[in-house]
Amino acid sequence: MTITFEVIHKDIAGRVGRLRVNEKNVRTPALLPVVNPHLPLVTPREMGRMGIEALITNAYIFRRSADYRDRALAEGLHRVLDFDGAIMTDSGSFQLSVYGEVEVNNRETLEFQQAIGSDIIVPLDIPTPPDAGRQRAEQDLGVTMERIREAHRLFPDANLAGPVQGGIFADLREESGRAVRELGLTFCPIGAVVPLMETYRYRDLVRVVLAAKRGLSPATAVHLFGAGHPSMFALAVAMGCDLFDSAAYALFAREGRYITTHGSLKIDELAELPCPCQVCRSMTADELRKSEDRERLLALHNLHVTLAEISRIRQAIQEGTLWELVDERCRSHPRLLDGYRELLRDTAELEVDDPVSKRRFFYRGAETCRRTEVLRYHRVIPRIPLGERVLVSFDGSGTPGFDTVLNFKPPFGPYPPELAETFPIGQSETPEWDEEMVRAGCAGIRSLMEANPGKEFAVRCADEWARVVREEVPGAEVLHEQV
Ligand code: GUN
Ligand code: ZN
Repeated sequence: MTITFEVIHKDIAGRVGRLRVNEKNVRTPALLPVVNPHLPLVTPREMGRMGIEALITNAYIFRRSADYRDRALAEGLHRVLDFDGAIMTDSGSFQLSVYGEVEVNNRETLEFQQAIGSDIIVPLDIPTPPDAGRQRAEQDLGVTMERIREAHRLFPDANLAGPVQGGIFADLREESGRAVRELGLTFCPIGAVVPLMETYRYRDLVRVVLAAKRGLSPATAVHLFGAGHPSMFALAVAMGCDLFDSAAYALFAREGRYITTHGSLKIDELAELPCPCQVCRSMTADELRKSEDRERLLALHNLHVTLAEISRIRQAIQEGTLWELVDERCRSHPRLLDGYRELLRDTAELEVDDPVSKRRFFYRGAETCRRTEVLRYHRVIPRIPLGERVLVSFDGSGTPGFDTVLNFKPPFGPYPPELAETFPIGQSETPEWDEEMVRAGCAGIRSLMEANPGKEFAVRCADEWARVVREEVPGAEVLHEQV
């Protein structure tokens, strides 16, 4: 195996990393554009100039065309495509899922992929459609695992990708992840998610990706098969996906669609080209619409936007602001918001890997209260040393008669004044307090009280919060401010 993956920076479960395949480096998160040799709207050489370090093409298409097959076998894939970065080949599984059958078996596609010099080869896994029942999903997964094992046995030295399948069944996804982990594969695509994305089933997408990740090793590079729309990259990266492949840039261009990070627009609906890329700054919307070169120009724009989002995500991970980016992106469509809320449903798993300190924490509404940093704070609150009589003071002022006086910052909760400058208390920015964040802060008071059952607790707050505090912290005395 000559695929290695090194994690360099982390945020949530997302990472900036370095994938190395056959001496070629790929910075991750990465986008692998899908190259169709028959209709290259943007050439691989141009892609290289745009900073693209890896691409994906379909071995099945190469194998079926006499001309391309012979050339690829004679000259190698890199020469035929004119690209010296990493090239991954897909097996034909996607065609299998669309057409129901393919005229190639597992061994033949793997041999062919190696013969044409692919850097990452993919077995003939079976993408189970989301409406398949459990029995079918289990059966498909069984065949997929057999084929991965066969690939591993036949070609132990190959750069083999280990696809994770299992339909929409979380336990099967986890089992599938564990099975490829046990084979020691360091590059694992999560498959059969295209129909989920096409139908905006982001909640299911989040469930299956989180389940697959539970089974996979954290040291594995995770590719989300067929994910090419930039509006969901941040969400997927937050779950620990490292690579994407995009046919969307070209498919959308063919349909006259202009990709933005908030969704796509029909070129006919555009009065302006709201994008800083070369294409959009060199012409008007009307000129683009009427251009003979329209499809190619749209593809270039779509690719630029997609790559820029990847850069923005890498930057966010390095700054520790990935949650803010996920929050922003997931508000562009209600179904993405469903996916985001699904991710926030159980952040305990994510909290374990989330960095202890970040550059900043911006409060952006109720969802923020469920972020990993809040959960982490509530988990470590019991470590605060306390006297016998404890006051949590919302406005920071003291009252005689208490051994310990703590300040209060929602959505975190109580904190000793000496922590005022440390993360997250010192680096968090909130608007005027709202009920959600005060309730979350009260959960912090509860966590402190549960850890100190013998002590007396009082909360001093303005009248407007007295009701909420009584509801959330029934065991504490509530001291109102006199108005
Ligand atoms: N492309 C999109 N989804 C899939 C998948 O599940 N398997 C393979 N091999 N390719 C894909
Ligand atoms: Zn543009």
